[in-house]
Amino acid sequence: MGCLPLRMAEQILILDFGSQYTQLIARRVRELNVYCEIHPYNKVPEITDDIKGVILSGSPCSVRDEGSPDLDLDSLRGKLPLLGVCYGSQLLAQKYGGEVLPSEIREYGRANLSHIDTHYDLLKEMTHGSQVWMSHGDTIKELPAGFDVIASTASVRVAAFKIKNEETYGIQFHPEVTHSVEGKNLLRNFVVHICGCSQDWTSDVFIDATVAELKAKIGDDKVVMGLSGGVDSSVAATLIHRAIGANLYCVFVDNGLLRKNEFEEVLHSYKDMGLNVIGVDAKQRFYDALAGISDPEAKRKAIGNAFIEVFDDEANKLEGVKWLGQGTIYPDVIESVSVKGPSATIKSHHNVGGLPDFMKLSVVEPLNTLFKDEVREVGRALDIPETIVGRHPFPGPGLAIRILGDITAEKVKTLQEVDYIFIQGLKDHGLYDQVWQAGAILLPIQSVGVMGDERTYEKVVALRAVGSVDGMTADWIHLPYEFLGKISNEIINRVKGVNRVVYDISSKPPATIEWE
Ligand code: XMP
Repeated sequence: MGCLPLRMAEQILILDFGSQYTQLIARRVRELNVYCEIHPYNKVPEITDDIKGVILSGSPCSVRDEGSPDLDLDSLRGKLPLLGVCYGSQLLAQKYGGEVLPSEIREYGRANLSHIDTHYDLLKEMTHGSQVWMSHGDTIKELPAGFDVIASTASVRVAAFKIKNEETYGIQFHPEVTHSVEGKNLLRNFVVHICGCSQDWTSDVFIDATVAELKAKIGDDKVVMGLSGGVDSSVAATLIHRAIGANLYCVFVDNGLLRKNEFEEVLHSYKDMGLNVIGVDAKQRFYDALAGISDPEAKRKAIGNAFIEVFDDEANKLEGVKWLGQGTIYPDVIESVSVKGPSATIKSHHNVGGLPDFMKLSVVEPLNTLFKDEVREVGRALDIPETIVGRHPFPGPGLAIRILGDITAEKVKTLQEVDYIFIQGLKDHGLYDQVWQAGAILLPIQSVGVMGDERTYEKVVALRAVGSVDGMTADWIHLPYEFLGKISNEIINRVKGVNRVVYDISSKPPATIEWE
């Protein structure tokens, strides 16, 4: 991948043993303005001077299992500060002669630190009784010689330890989850006081470093990039544009599956932002490619292929392009550790873009070290309009995966009207920013209704609004009944062909956010 591994002067290395919380550790460290990277435990990168400390993550495995994830700890211990979290701490204890056994009591959920030795840097300013989050089936019964207990709970004696004469620590709880009330304090103690990181990794620093790096890397070459109207591609394009100006050629395709008025409005914003952007009306091409297709995956494929064709046609009109810009973000590239089935990253099917090999372009992905919320922050620092930076995620295949069954221009039009009333309503009632993602779904069934004296037999639409952090899990939002009632009324009165509105109250898992 021709990405930009933006090496910062300082960083924390997080070694992942497959915990569902590993990405959260990274987010918390970055919230402290300290850059960090996640690497699988079995692919430890070279320990260069910029790495100021290492965090060993948790894991769904037990250190007692044969073949459980293992690491050459001798190569790290004593050379730089080390913090083992849950599995990481048990691995440290077990490897050096301690005893790790199954817990007698299930230790899952909230606990309180009944003993804290705040003389130790890791626990500085932590309060007696501090609530922490436990999630483990094993417990450290005996510590090896030279390991000191520095915190306990009522049922876990070794809640935290330190190895004498070296900056190596282990904690049994998860400081990265918000239920550990002073978890961030503990992580600050580790990365700032123990590792000595200077907390200077900010959006502005990221922007300056990235623009300089892009300039050096791309020089006078030309870059082509597909824009989607979403946050990621817009922020990536703005960064590249800052670096190389008019040599960035953006292509924004109207696939006929966008929200009402979205193509015109977003194209206008892009032009206002000074981007060199070509808008392509390819609606009919997409409708033709989708004709008669009902299967969700087949729809995605048809849309992906049509996009490649349209993008290719446009890119071929440009001369001498060497690079392809992409808005890939960090969760898409973190190599997941598969210890118990596939872990966190399950989004491969989400990338509708992709390009044929024959285009032979090198890829430039300036956001591939950032999480979504960091992308938004960078976008704001770049003065990208809030209408783009603050918008809900929207899937690449657009309304096609919210129209159950086959796609026609007429169905798209109906759904666009419904979606418009819902989204506009959320904005007008100050609810839009409380929702992570919202939209409407056109169901492939009709229901009986009555309007005036007439019986009707028309379409049903579902509304969905979810709260989430990253789309991996989500819960439905408890929108006010009055609001739902008003929107339902408005939809049925104003959208021809719809006589019933339902609200989706399923969480993910087990449901997904999209219906297809
Ligand atoms: P699910 O439905 O899997 O969605 O819970 C999680 C997030 O991913 C988005 N999504 C997609 N995005 N191409 C995309 O670019 C896709 O094929 C696709 N399918 C789902 C979805 O909107 C939500 O934000």
